[in-house]
Amino acid sequence: MIESRIATESRHASESKPTPDHRFAEAERQAIYRAILERRDVRGQFTPDPIEDETLSRLLLAAHFAPSVGFMQPWSFLLIRDDRVKSEVHALFAKANAEAAALFPDDQAATYRRLKLEGIREAPINLCITCERDRAGPVVIGRTHHRAMDLYSTVCAVQNLWLAARAEGIGVGWVSILDHAKLKTVLGIPKGVVPVAYLCLGRVSHFHDRPELEKAGWRPRLAAAELIHADRWGRVEIGPLAARIQADQDRIQAGTFLKEPS
Ligand SMILES: Cc1cc2nc3c(=O)[nH]c(=O)nc-3n(C[C@H](O)[C@H](O)[C@H](O)COP(=O)(O)O)c2cc1C
Repeated sequence: MIESRIATESRHASESKPTPDHRFAEAERQAIYRAILERRDVRGQFTPDPIEDETLSRLLLAAHFAPSVGFMQPWSFLLIRDDRVKSEVHALFAKANAEAAALFPDDQAATYRRLKLEGIREAPINLCITCERDRAGPVVIGRTHHRAMDLYSTVCAVQNLWLAARAEGIGVGWVSILDHAKLKTVLGIPKGVVPVAYLCLGRVSHFHDRPELEKAGWRPRLAAAELIHADRWGRVEIGPLAARIQADQDRIQAGTFLKEPS
């Protein structure tokens, strides 16, 4: 009883004043967009500083409060701090990365080999986020016609954690160049549980201002206005919205988006 009253009171204490249109306060909205725009994939800027349990707890809960199909919550979080396990995973990366490099044409392969695409051994914590496909039984609300929805739900958890981490000053890097069957063996992950994301987490010396692949000339950021269709695929006439989106994207790229209240 007392505990539940404390919980209610502390919940109220942390709430902002309600607004008639349910919007967050200006500074809160700016913070959300800041996390989204300044989130980066981190590979090479990890420092050895530990992540305190208080922070790690918040990040894991941010992930756990993600949406999930049929409220399945299919995820589990496998924390890896043992250097021997990290080295085994790094060996899997090295093999897969050599295979990957061979798939690109010669001119791109040279650039590919120069890219740093993981921070497995430097990051103080590695985190494998998994999806247990049968967690809610064989028939799940919302997954009846698309079985992959539980995997998508797990990716939502990854993104929640990634954004919360940016707000906490923690870098996250997603390492996908791994043979997942071998990863399961190294980590002892049972049948029916899929490793969705292998992440490297740690404090960082700095965050890049733009994606490293963009900076390296690998691919540019696309114009969002050109990716929007109206009513039917291929109908791209979206009227003044297109100009608005383009102007906002220009402001993002000029670094002025967050400075101007919307
Ligand atoms: C599903 C997924 C898998 C990824 N795998 C890798 C990876 O194996 N290695 C890597 O360096 N980056 C990986 N990334 C990061 C992307 O390269 C990065 O998100 C993209 O270049 C945009 O940069 P930003 O995240 O810094 O904005 C992955 C991202 C996602 C969403």
